[in-house]
Amino acid sequence: EAYFSRFSFPVSVFCEDQVDSTNEWAKREALQGAPSWSLFIAESQTRGKGRKGRSWFSLPGKSLTFSLLIRPNLSLWSGFTSLPLVCGLAVSLALEEEGLEPEIKWPNDVLIDGKKVAGILVEGDFEAEVLRYVVIGIGLNVNLLREDFPEDLRLTATSLLEVSGKRHHRLFLLENLLNKLSKCLEGWKGEANLASLYPELKKRLATLGKRVKIAVSDKVLEGLAEDIDLDGSLWINSEGERKKISWGELVTS
Ligand code: BTN
Repeated sequence: EAYFSRFSFPVSVFCEDQVDSTNEWAKREALQGAPSWSLFIAESQTRGKGRKGRSWFSLPGKSLTFSLLIRPNLSLWSGFTSLPLVCGLAVSLALEEEGLEPEIKWPNDVLIDGKKVAGILVEGDFEAEVLRYVVIGIGLNVNLLREDFPEDLRLTATSLLEVSGKRHHRLFLLENLLNKLSKCLEGWKGEANLASLYPELKKRLATLGKRVKIAVSDKVLEGLAEDIDLDGSLWINSEGERKKISWGELVTS
């Protein structure tokens, strides 16, 4: 099936059959001076990374694993913390065009029917409070069958194929996702907060209105997730007291 990809913006694309992790690859290239909007795609990863030191499972030919390097002009950590939600929204918008109904789980998972369909790993390199680059790593379970997943993931993970019953075109998805990402990032860049994306984001945030348990450094906070802040933090109500939690502090959720 021939497909000619068209991005609505200039992007340098790098492809490999196999790398350790596209995030690590992108970070190495960032240090060598790769420009903003460099895209690193690999068919397989030997050490795909998830958050909190976990690994990320993917299968060649069936998953989508890539990292985008951007160099936003940002001098504050607080702007950076809203980025995973911006990416979660972009992934959701792209999946909606595939006829699906994704939800965002704060701070950076995308779920369908309560199961994880995409993972997002945003890493930034700050020097003296100035952000030198950001790597946005996205892993999407596209055409995996239930039995393709390792047993321990079957209860919590799903794929586009599993929820829609049909195969999805990975290149088309990638292109659409990047177009959405570019639009969402455009909206975010102005003030490095979620203001322009807020209504669209809130609509899709499954976490709001739910009781959550969050480990922040050495204690566990339990409460009702009431709202998100423009900087991407989650406001929870814990026994009548409102607390603001940023994903930088999050240990488990
Ligand atoms: C998570 O849910 O914990 C985040 C998973 C992020 C996985 C993607 S796959 C592409 C990129 N390269 C990596 O090593 N990780 C991210």
